[in-house]
Amino acid sequence: MMIRTHRCGELGKAQVGQTVVLNGWVQRRRDHGNVIFIDLRDRQGLTQIVFNPEINKAAHEQAHVLRSEFVVAIKGRVSPRPDGSANPHLATGDIEVMVHEVEILNEAETPPFMIEDDMEVTEALRLKYRYLDLRRPKMQRLLGLRHGVMQEVRAVLNGQGFLEIETPMLTKSTPEGARDYLVPSRVNPGQFYALPQSPQLFKQILMVAGTDRYYQIARCFRDEDLRNDRQPEFTQIDMELSFVDREQVMDLAEGMVRQVAKTVGGVDLSGAFPRLTFAEAMGRYGSDKPDLRFGMPLHDVSAFAGSTEFKVFKEAVAKGGIVKALIVKQGASMARSRIDALGETAKTFGAKGLAWVKVTGPAQLESVVAKFLDANGLLAALPEASVGDLILFGADRGKIVHDVLGRIRLLLGEELKLIDQSAWRPLWVTDFPLLDYDEGEKRYMAMHHPFTAPLDEDLSLLEREPLRVRAKAYDLVLNGNEIGGGSIRIHRREVQSKVFDLLGIGKDEAKAKFGFLLEALEFGAPPHGGIAFGLDRLVMLFGQADSIRDVIAFPKTQKAQCPMTDAPSSVDPKQLRELSIKLDLLE
Ligand code: AMO
Ligand code: AMP
Repeated sequence: MMIRTHRCGELGKAQVGQTVVLNGWVQRRRDHGNVIFIDLRDRQGLTQIVFNPEINKAAHEQAHVLRSEFVVAIKGRVSPRPDGSANPHLATGDIEVMVHEVEILNEAETPPFMIEDDMEVTEALRLKYRYLDLRRPKMQRLLGLRHGVMQEVRAVLNGQGFLEIETPMLTKSTPEGARDYLVPSRVNPGQFYALPQSPQLFKQILMVAGTDRYYQIARCFRDEDLRNDRQPEFTQIDMELSFVDREQVMDLAEGMVRQVAKTVGGVDLSGAFPRLTFAEAMGRYGSDKPDLRFGMPLHDVSAFAGSTEFKVFKEAVAKGGIVKALIVKQGASMARSRIDALGETAKTFGAKGLAWVKVTGPAQLESVVAKFLDANGLLAALPEASVGDLILFGADRGKIVHDVLGRIRLLLGEELKLIDQSAWRPLWVTDFPLLDYDEGEKRYMAMHHPFTAPLDEDLSLLEREPLRVRAKAYDLVLNGNEIGGGSIRIHRREVQSKVFDLLGIGKDEAKAKFGFLLEALEFGAPPHGGIAFGLDRLVMLFGQADSIRDVIAFPKTQKAQCPMTDAPSSVDPKQLRELSIKLDLLE
């Protein structure tokens, strides 16, 4: 075979006159009768290849059989393109290669879709023929970007004294709040490993082991309902540090993200990342991962609303709830049908309704509930509103109001094109509550995970008012995406036991599930903390990809399937017998 001298993206005027060999795939063939053109493609780019019978008759003959995705080697001379036919959009657009020898290295079936960036094809088909999908320049660029992010992360962390250490995949369940993927053990019949939801317990143990600074580009497995930014297996940039408090971890993580953004993503995140506490983020944006690329904050109008004669408002406040307002600037022109549709959407988010008023004059409101509301009183309570605005209200328990208005805010941000698509707005969200109350199961749950340390000043509340205890936890948010989260951990056994008690994890259960960690905490565990970033989400954002599936070479569908390999699939009954498994419950 003729081995390439160059890649398909690197020839230009400087190589004119040289004889070169290129290897690659036929992107397309154009037969002009007297001459045949092909665009030859490899990972790097495209080069125009010319088969001219006057240069080599045999090669021109062979070119007739070339089809899309045939694999070829060509030898030829680099020539300037004739006047007026240069292609300024192509890196190699100034030249073409005049072939004198061609070797067909492999033929190809007609591909099920064109290997081009702008193609209309279902994701199911793309995933089935992922190897063809990945040949597209956009996908090659994203694979390259992902590689770049991983290398830069390693460079930054290696420079800061971190050790890259692998932790087991076949392990015990780690509590990150999702369901586990289980793996049966043949040699221990009836027993199962869990694939790690994260390396959380191992990285803490590594701190007890004196490793001081650990990182890993770690695969995590979570059996949860999938969304556009979630995969059943995904990758974390996972780290843990000893003898630190929150500031050190956040500083280091912030520096790493800034550096990766700049060198790999070409994104400038200079300036200290702003911080909001969880309470501030929820109160102002109705979200613990607010998108700061646009304003439209929530305004608390409970005091005013509670004093009105509008039953919905009055009762919400009387019952200990709140009333908040979203101002849609110049939204008074919004059609009634659109406002009603927003109300219906709010109901699907859990609201009982979405009251609204249009500010039609200095002391004039238009609304079905206008008769209950004093215009001057409202505008005094909401000085940010002015004539021509639409005001939307949520009245309920705080949690519901925040969630609903937070989601309506995002929806309107998109719809009214308020989001500056070129902006990058990172922020830290801190001081999360340690616990959340699960109404369904009637018990406390860890908001982050059960090893997260409470704020020192809130320790005394642990027994009296557990829901008021804040945690030494932090999330990094970028443009409304949670890209990382971590915490300072509990390193004292007695505090850990107290938290387990609150979570309803009894002594025996704690021992069975995390006994090894509890025991390790007894042997001189240093204060420690860490963070993990969603690598896939970072690459998705920096690469401006549509979904996290676009930045994973072989992702799963929303149903956790792989259309290429057909995983998951049934197995041989013999394999099940070896594992002592019987599928009795299958419908
Ligand atoms: P957490 O569960 O917050 O923390 O995960 C860290 C980050 O991982 C990303 N992520 C995901 N990405 C894709 N698909 C998923 N299913 C998925 N789930 C999470 C998010 C998230 O911010 N052990 C702790 C970290 C620590 O405390 O140090 C943990 O796993 O970007
Ligand atoms: P109603 O009194 O139920 O007819 O509702 C009057 C208006 O208030 C309608 O526009 C409802 O959408 C709205 N509304 C009802 N309940 C709530 C609520 N909990 N929060 C905000 N608006 C509400």
